[in-house]
Amino acid sequence: MSAVMERQAVGIEVVPVTTHVGAEIRNIDLSQPQSAEVIRQIRAALVQHGVVFFRNQSLDSAQYEALAHAFGKPVRPNSGIIPALAGTTVIAEVRKDPDMGRNVGGSWHTDQVYRPNPSWGTMLLCREVPTFGGDTLWASMSAAYDRLSPGLQKTLRGLRAVHSNANVQSRMNTGRAPDPDVVHPVVIRHPESGRHILYVSPSYTRHFEGWTEEESKPLLDYLYQQSQHPEIFCRFHWEKGSLAFWDNYHTWHFAVNDYEAGERVMHRIVVEGPPFDRELETGA
Ligand code: SIN
Repeated sequence: MSAVMERQAVGIEVVPVTTHVGAEIRNIDLSQPQSAEVIRQIRAALVQHGVVFFRNQSLDSAQYEALAHAFGKPVRPNSGIIPALAGTTVIAEVRKDPDMGRNVGGSWHTDQVYRPNPSWGTMLLCREVPTFGGDTLWASMSAAYDRLSPGLQKTLRGLRAVHSNANVQSRMNTGRAPDPDVVHPVVIRHPESGRHILYVSPSYTRHFEGWTEEESKPLLDYLYQQSQHPEIFCRFHWEKGSLAFWDNYHTWHFAVNDYEAGERVMHRIVVEGPPFDRELETGA
């Protein structure tokens, strides 16, 4: 067995794609019901790698929903942004047609951060891809935190930040008022791995609590710059039947809008998971 391949007892293979983020899971047919042990192994890979990828999967909507249920309660899509796919209640269709300039998710963000209780996991199943381009990037926000000095880490652990989906609502021309602002710790501890995670993102974070936007901007910009080192992200090239499953606490992602012709159609399901602690860490 290769040093980078973790073969599990019941047969799935977990193959990391970079040191800090991303792993491909092989030897599995996700259209079939999975044993509790396989679900546990996939979840463990997700906690460790932040995002896992599966290739050549053939799932109808009912099988896809059943898969999501095995990991947690699926969340109904936000109907004001992307409504549920016809005939389903929890699958959102993330689509870009050739005549659309903008895509969905075309800047670094973490899903759900603008909600009072952000959901843990997102699954994305590829239904159509353009002939080139349309990849997605993920960054490890625990690796981003680890890059910072102990002094800055300690300062950040004492801060909260205010988040809003106002920019995204206006960029997507939804015509809806943004959801109310929410406040989360700037550094969260992952409820399963216990790792510290930098929990701010360019698409949704407005300012630090008690600071103005002007005061917050230089430090936020610094954190964003530190979070965009190529060493802490991975890039996934989609094919029809690829499925990515990521941990929204652990990662940022970015859908690259580098194609004009061809449609790109993804089916997304968000699932709930264990919540993170809302208290600030005041210790050293
Ligand atoms: C998203 O941000 O949820 C969409 C990601 C993608 O389409 O690659």
